[in-house]
Amino acid sequence: MDWGMKNRISKLINPKTGHAVWLAIDHGYFLGPVKRLEKPGEIAGPLLPYVEAMMLTRGVLRNCIDANTPVPVILRVSGGNSIVGEDLSKETIVVSMEEAIRLNVSAVAFSIYVGGRYEHQTLVGLSNLVNEAQRYGMPVLAVTAVGKELGKRDARYLSLACRIAAELGAQMVKTYYCQDFGKVVEYSPIPLVVAGGPKLKTELDALKLAHDALQEGAVGVDMGRNIWQSDNSLAMIQAIRHIVHDNASVAEAEELFNSLKR
Ligand code: R5P
Repeated sequence: MDWGMKNRISKLINPKTGHAVWLAIDHGYFLGPVKRLEKPGEIAGPLLPYVEAMMLTRGVLRNCIDANTPVPVILRVSGGNSIVGEDLSKETIVVSMEEAIRLNVSAVAFSIYVGGRYEHQTLVGLSNLVNEAQRYGMPVLAVTAVGKELGKRDARYLSLACRIAAELGAQMVKTYYCQDFGKVVEYSPIPLVVAGGPKLKTELDALKLAHDALQEGAVGVDMGRNIWQSDNSLAMIQAIRHIVHDNASVAEAEELFNSLKR
């Protein structure tokens, strides 16, 4: 791997622990103003000291995030779809590599919809992005999107999607946690991070998800709603960090969460 690519990845995956906490605030690219993310800069600002990286769109980066931030950026470069549009999988590259470099980002992110109506378009899009990114030492994070079909999130489907992302050249993949997640990890030659998905019933559920994903081989989390939709987002991000970087148990993370909440 080239020096530039390695160096960028070292900003995202902490070389000391081999793990990563990323804050996902890119949801607006197809969902518009999501609950609690109406003002992304205000919600993300206090959480940023606790993450290795933030994942977002160029619009939110330019308009809502202070350029003096030391926190690396994973830039979402796919889009062109919306929650009310024809089909969520109709997504393609919407940001150039030149723009990603101008914004000094540490990785670019692109969604693939394996089994979706526009599967081919997204897989070719990922490949084209890798071809371009490779020239500049820019890591590519593939996101295994499931659209509205949350039921697709089983180990068989996710190992298929993650493996295809790796085969097409992505350096990292973001996917969902599922039963038998270890199998998804086993068949992926690249590091995996997990999304949190829609807000779970309790914070404890989200801590458990992060813990189990890490135990089964994920290198970290790229979490959004289960952090910033919590009434105690600051306590939540620190509890997640405790799991990811300190190998804390769910009980230890919950204890930290409760003490910070107070
Ligand atoms: C999808 O909208 C984005 O790729 C999110 O970054 C991803 O789903 C992670 O956020 P959450 O933990 O809220 O699912």
